[in-house]
Amino acid sequence: MGIVAVPPKLPGTRPEGAQNEGESSARIRQMFSDIAPRYDLLNHLLSLSLDRVWRRRTAAAFDRILRGPHARVLDLCCGTGDLTLALQRRAEKAGNRSAAIFGSDFAHPMLVRASQKSSAPAAKPEVRSRGIEYAEADALQLPFADASFDLVTAAFGFRNLAIYDAGLREMFRLLRPGGEVGILEFAEPTGALFGPLYRFYFRQILPRIGGAVSGRGFAYSYLPASVAKFPAPDDLAAMMTRAGFANVSFKCWTGGTVALHRGQKL
Ligand SMILES: C[S@@+](CC[C@H](N)C(=O)[O-])C[C@H]1O[C@@H](n2cnc3c(N)ncnc32)[C@H](O)[C@@H]1O
Repeated sequence: MGIVAVPPKLPGTRPEGAQNEGESSARIRQMFSDIAPRYDLLNHLLSLSLDRVWRRRTAAAFDRILRGPHARVLDLCCGTGDLTLALQRRAEKAGNRSAAIFGSDFAHPMLVRASQKSSAPAAKPEVRSRGIEYAEADALQLPFADASFDLVTAAFGFRNLAIYDAGLREMFRLLRPGGEVGILEFAEPTGALFGPLYRFYFRQILPRIGGAVSGRGFAYSYLPASVAKFPAPDDLAAMMTRAGFANVSFKCWTGGTVALHRGQKL
């Protein structure tokens, strides 16, 4: 019988060659800065546009908060702002023009793209809410006051943090009592047939397409490697509970390839 190598689950990301947390962060920041020009195109191409559905579903999951007058929402690791925009659209759809939506990320070129997308004219100017405010900041040390948000989200960003517990602590600090956190992340499907098929695509095909289109092979081999080392949904839920969140739950979508975790600060 063969021995299957199970990658160790780490307390934070460690891209190849990084010796410590500082080096991990610096590499991640550089990597996302480098791929910013092709980031959106590759997201849609490699996921067959399912990424748009996942972000829309994530925004819809927090409808109650997004309907709230003067809701304050922070999308961490916002990248080019696709979830930030989905959250804003959801609030607008509910007729809430007073929601204050913020996005933050530490890769400047990603934020430049996010703000370009956000300043595009609204399809229906009459429902246009106040704009999104973007901040260039590290998710482990954010320039926002304690208890200043009703909702803190992160889509495909949390996995890239150098220290997961510190990321959860920061999210918890930022939430008002009653506020919620939403973490959308990749997961590894466990199905007997779909699991191996998906892993073949994710580990063999995706890095080749991503590397060829972006010209940055490292970023697209880092993606499957980082997902393999990321805590499984149950483990992430346990980490969230340990960080102080209540009512922690998660839902897996698209055959278990992504999971939305949520929790509440009481
Ligand atoms: C895979 S992208 C996700 C972007 C966006 N949320 C989306 O749904 O497409 C991960 C983002 O997390 C950001 N990021 C990773 N670690 C970070 C940190 N410590 N502080 C701030 N941003 C971080 C990266 O710069 C990158 O833009």
